[in-house]
Formats: sequence, structure tokens, C-alpha cells
Amino acid sequence: TFPQRVFSGVQSTGNLHLGNYLGAIVKFVELQKSFDCMYCVVDLHAITVPQDPIALKANTREIAAAFIACGIDPKDNIVFNQSQVPEHAELAWVLNCVARIGWLNRMTQFKDKAGKDRENASMGLLDYPVLMAADILIYRATHVPVGDDQKQHLELARDIAQKFNNDFSESIARNGFGEAFFPLPEPLISGPATRVMSLRDGTKKMSKSDASDYSRINLSDDADQIAQKVKKAKTDPDALPSEEKGLEGRPEAYNLVGIFAALSGRSKADVLGEFGGANFSTFKSALVDLAVAKLAPITDRMRRIREDESYVDGVLRDGAERARAIARENMNAVKDIVGF
Ligand code: ADP
Ligand code: NA
Repeated sequence: TFPQRVFSGVQSTGNLHLGNYLGAIVKFVELQKSFDCMYCVVDLHAITVPQDPIALKANTREIAAAFIACGIDPKDNIVFNQSQVPEHAELAWVLNCVARIGWLNRMTQFKDKAGKDRENASMGLLDYPVLMAADILIYRATHVPVGDDQKQHLELARDIAQKFNNDFSESIARNGFGEAFFPLPEPLISGPATRVMSLRDGTKKMSKSDASDYSRINLSDDADQIAQKVKKAKTDPDALPSEEKGLEGRPEAYNLVGIFAALSGRSKADVLGEFGGANFSTFKSALVDLAVAKLAPITDRMRRIREDESYVDGVLRDGAERARAIARENMNAVKDIVGF
């Protein structure tokens, strides 16, 4: 019985890539038709690993420009950056006192990102999922479009929301909020490309932080760069199968067919119906043409939007004001509930 609201975020780190686009941003664009949507550049999350301050600011504008270039309407939706709305961090503190250390110790992304030297990772990196829960819950958002890699974090956000509702149930009722203050946010993970894999290794996700530039197609890549990366993409020696089960045990082939399907809005079965029996060089040429046709207009729009810095800054300022009005009201309620 909570009003429906969509929230999602993208970190202001460089190298926005095809995985971010197909796994998340395409869905953001779709959802704006039927939901009230808030799309946030999460710069507080970005600093959980070291960032150059000048690059961080440029990347914040870059992601905001990408949202708009991909088709998100910043008038109809709220587009903003996290650090301009202090209630995210304020709620995160309260939720830190609700979440359990054991819950965070189970997060696989922390283990991946911290690597072997866990003791030397930032406290923020461990706490990342609690801040993410705060991002969502400060707006009492009900739906969260994310890639498959964020599923575990969404489950944690639901656990935190549930525990807050239970721990404070009497106070929630006394303050007139009924049985639950926070909705349990639902992840929206669907479509053919919820996990786009690296072009160099079909068992690793395509990621902004991969050291190899050839592992990912960036939204800022031009046609030549896209062609080179697709041509260098790892494959196996066999021809493409004509049915999906022929992709089993062939992660690189599976990934490229999935990317083709997602970019063309077709099913994998349909793509294999066309390319089954073809060798990879034929398929890769078709994939290059498709990727360039889809991405070039976005890259162009991004460049044009970025040229007018004051426009992007204006969008973010306006978005932050609108976000803050909601965040402030909800934070005031949380303060009453907690006893501040
Ligand atoms: P990254 O994981 O590349 O650093 P973010 O953490 O900013 O990027 O993620 C932004 C959104 O993109 C999230 O919803 C995330 O689930 C999605 N995403 C990131 N990488 C991929 C991928 N390889 N495939 C599909 N979706 C992805
Ligand atoms: Na909308």
C-alpha cells in the first residue's frame, strides 16, 4: 500500500559501459513511462575506493549526461547526485545501527572488490550496501531496476527495511505510520542482458574497473573503438550453434549472442536462428554494425550535452532540490520514530 516509486543509481566512476547500459539504463528509460522515477549519480558510493577529485566531478556530470542522452527526461523524472542530498548519509547512520555486521560480512561484492587485503579496504566499502539501502529507503522507493550483480544488495536492503519496521513497530504506529514505515523494495532484474560479461573473459562481469580497456565497450567509444574491441573479443573455435542449448559451456559465445539479442530487442533463439552455423567473424561484423548503429547516436548526444556544463549542473541542482523535499520529510519521520 505504498505509492509506487522507482529509485536507482549509477556510480560516478569513469568508463560507463555497455553492461551499465543494457543491464540498468535501458530499464530506467522504459520505467519512466509508468512510474515516478528517481535516478541518482551515486558519488558517495564512488569514494569507497580512492577517486581523483577533479575526475570525480567530471564523472558526475558525465553520468548525468549519459542518463539524458539515453532518453531519461529530467523534467519528468528526478535526476540528481547523491552528495547534494545529505539525508542519504544521515539515514545510512540510522540503518548502520539496524544492520548486523554478520549480514555485511556475507556480501560477495565486498569480497570481490576488497580482494586479498580485506583489512586495508575502506570502512565505506564494507558499508556500501547500507548506504545503498539508505538511498532507496530515504524515498520509500518500492522498485529498484538493477543488474543481476546487485541482487544480493537489494536483498540486504529488504532485510534492513524489515528489521527497522520490526525494531520500531510500536513507535511507527504511535507516530501514525501504521504497521510499517519502509516498503520492502523489489528488485527489477529482467531482460536478456542483466549480466553482461567481459569481452576478454566470459566468466567475469563487464566492469568499469577492469584494467583491460578491451574488456568493455564504453558509451564514449567511437565506431573504430567498438569495431576493434568486438574483433578482439575472446571466442572459441566452433561455429555458432543454431539453438540456445548449443551455447552451454561456451560463456564467450553466450555473452556475445546475449549482447546482440539485447541490442536488437530480439530473443537469443531468434538471433541463433539467423546466425546458427556462421563463424564468429561473420557474426562479429554484424554485431559491430548493430552496436555502432545503437550507440553512436547516444555517444553524439552525450558529447553535445556535456558541452553545455551549465545545463547539466542546472539539471542536477533542480533534481537535488526536488529529491531533498522528499528526503527531508521522510528523514523527519525517521527522527520521530527513532526518538531524536
Ligand atoms: P559498475 O558495476 O560497472 O562499477 P555501477 O556499480 O555504477 O557500475 O552499476 C550501475 C548499474 O549497472 C547497476 O544497476 C549494476 O547492476 C549495472 N551493471 C554493472 N555492471 C553490469 C554488467 N556487467 N551487466 C549488467 N548490468 C551491470
Ligand atoms: Na515518470
